[in-house]
Amino acid sequence: MSSQDIFFKHQAQTTPFAKALEISHSEGMFIYDIDGKRYLDLVAGVSACTLGHAHPNIINAINTQVKRYLHVMVYGEYIQSPQYKLAQLLAQNLPKKLDCTYFVNSGCEAIEGAMKLAKRKTSRSKIISFHNSYHGSTHGALSIMGQEHYKTKYRPLLGDCYQIPYDCISALQKIDYQTAAVVVEPIQGASGFRVPSTLWLKQLSKRCKEVGAQLIFDEIQTCFGRTGKLFALQTFDVVPDILCLAKGMGGGMAIGAFISSKEDMALLKENPMLGHITTFGGHPVNCAASLATLQTLLDEPDIIDSVIRKEKLFRDNLVHPKIKEIRGKGLMLAVELGNKDWCNALVEKGYENGLITFFFLFTKTSVRISPPLNISDEQIVEACQKIKHILNQF
Ligand SMILES: Cc1ncc(COP(=O)(O)O)c(C=O)c1O
Repeated sequence: MSSQDIFFKHQAQTTPFAKALEISHSEGMFIYDIDGKRYLDLVAGVSACTLGHAHPNIINAINTQVKRYLHVMVYGEYIQSPQYKLAQLLAQNLPKKLDCTYFVNSGCEAIEGAMKLAKRKTSRSKIISFHNSYHGSTHGALSIMGQEHYKTKYRPLLGDCYQIPYDCISALQKIDYQTAAVVVEPIQGASGFRVPSTLWLKQLSKRCKEVGAQLIFDEIQTCFGRTGKLFALQTFDVVPDILCLAKGMGGGMAIGAFISSKEDMALLKENPMLGHITTFGGHPVNCAASLATLQTLLDEPDIIDSVIRKEKLFRDNLVHPKIKEIRGKGLMLAVELGNKDWCNALVEKGYENGLITFFFLFTKTSVRISPPLNISDEQIVEACQKIKHILNQF
């Protein structure tokens, strides 16, 4: 059997039309297939590969840690230097009250942990999220998803979860004294990078404070520089009670985190203790990769400082009659074509032309651009030329 046959026979698929590109290796901005063809990666593993592929600092950190130890004990029992150093560096770069990190395996686990912590903090159960939100695929995260289509076959889900309109000030009144938490993406990902007004996010924060609800920021996709600041909370100047991270924080390795105050996080260790347990959460190798990613971003501030300029370069170069709009902020951009077939054709022909773009979960009329943050200006211009060349073909 060919590798294709085995892949389709024995590996579970999530769509009927997997691309099935067979990877040889990846380096910098490029992914190489087994035929030696090179693809410029404008997707970065869906916003995960913050510093591109095989960044030497990340590879060195992984190699060093692999030689020291792998998994040694369930989360939170032993002192492991990649974990505590990363927790400290995060605290040093976050607002004061976000000083205690719980490391997990993924974005959805961070969301699960954050929702549980909010329930412990408030002794309430109601959780509010937003239309078109995406927070992950586990039952809890699915319960707060803002798209019924993807939830309906899995009901019953978690009770007492409600979705209200995003970026709508009047709807904030639905957040009431029974609300344990409001979970929000500072920029919505799956619906095609929708950026809300800063005023709305500030009003949301105010309303949560008024009623004593925990504000949970899902920065799983915006974290580690993608919006031009290390965290989007700096971009919008709003400090949540709990912050969820994953994807880009790992520099290509699997890690997530929920972060709150030391005092609130202590709720998980008593009455009952073991409020959240995870075997592999904060795996030392993955923490070492995350630490190297964060340290590199801090040591080379130009990487994050260049994000807004690179956004402008994309916007200036992606002018074409078929492009209706470019949404998003920083290096999370949605090219709106207003036409599903054109999107499919752009992504497909992109591969033919050695360029990787991708789809969004909830919108079929725009195409994702979320490259590694260290993509060069020349690569951006080249990518835009390819996109326009492809759009000219249909
Ligand atoms: C905003 C947001 N939240 C949560 C998640 C879930 O993260 P994971 O796939 O690591 O569970 C994602 C993943 O795409 C995301 O974009």
